Amino acid sequence: MSAPGYFIAIEGGDGAGKSTQMARLAAWLREVTGREVVATREPGGTELGQTLRNAVMHGEHVDPRTEALLYATDRAHHVASVVRPALERGAIVISDRYLDSSIAYQGHGRELGAEEVERLSLWATDGLLPDLTVLLDLAPDAARARMTGELDRIEQADPEFFERTRDAYLERVDLDPGRYVVVSADADIASIQMETRGHVARALELDPDLIARGDADGEADGDADGDASGEAHGAPHGEAEP
Ligand code: TMP
Repeated sequence: MSAPGYFIAIEGGDGAGKSTQMARLAAWLREVTGREVVATREPGGTELGQTLRNAVMHGEHVDPRTEALLYATDRAHHVASVVRPALERGAIVISDRYLDSSIAYQGHGRELGAEEVERLSLWATDGLLPDLTVLLDLAPDAARARMTGELDRIEQADPEFFERTRDAYLERVDLDPGRYVVVSADADIASIQMETRGHVARALELDPDLIARGDADGEADGDADGDASGEAHGAPHGEAEP
């Protein structure tokens, strides 16, 4: 992949606070780089993706292979229609979840096998990998305590499922440390944001003085409730509810 853009994925378990951190990171990157920054997500970063998101997260029960294929379909369309074109324009793309979610959730959580699920995603995306993946790491118990409201179909999985997904993420980091950074999500919004900015600034070779610029814990995405998770509150991105 030799597109002029830069691709960042934000990963982590449900309740880790990815959406909140991502919105703040995108606003900060726009301010300090002046570059086009595309903030997107999986599943649901496209119109078709919204339909797939609703089906896989809120629809009738599906077996693990169907689930894996639905996420892979969303990813294929997302990469072909949003991510690759943006990278080719030179944009910084930040995706709230990418292929490591499938490896953690379907490969390990649903026990379909990490290698097969990875192959499926690599086929779906024609091999596109993020330049940097930020893992917001949080113990499943702490994550569950942050989840309020009705749980979606994935969030209803048993606690062992979430232990497996967390272990899988950490294992991925160990296998390829050059492509990942781990940020503890067991902290307040501003500290998590500052640490994340530090990693991104290093990766993009930005002046470290820029890290403190702008709002790290404020209202960048209109989320004023101070909840470190910023997730599991219904429809954070205009999600179609069941
Ligand atoms: P989120 O957008 O609020 O993080 O919710 C997405 C849910 O879908 C979350 O439970 C993780 C799950 N998921 C998978 O199981 N596999 C995937 O490949 C992706 C992208 C998400």
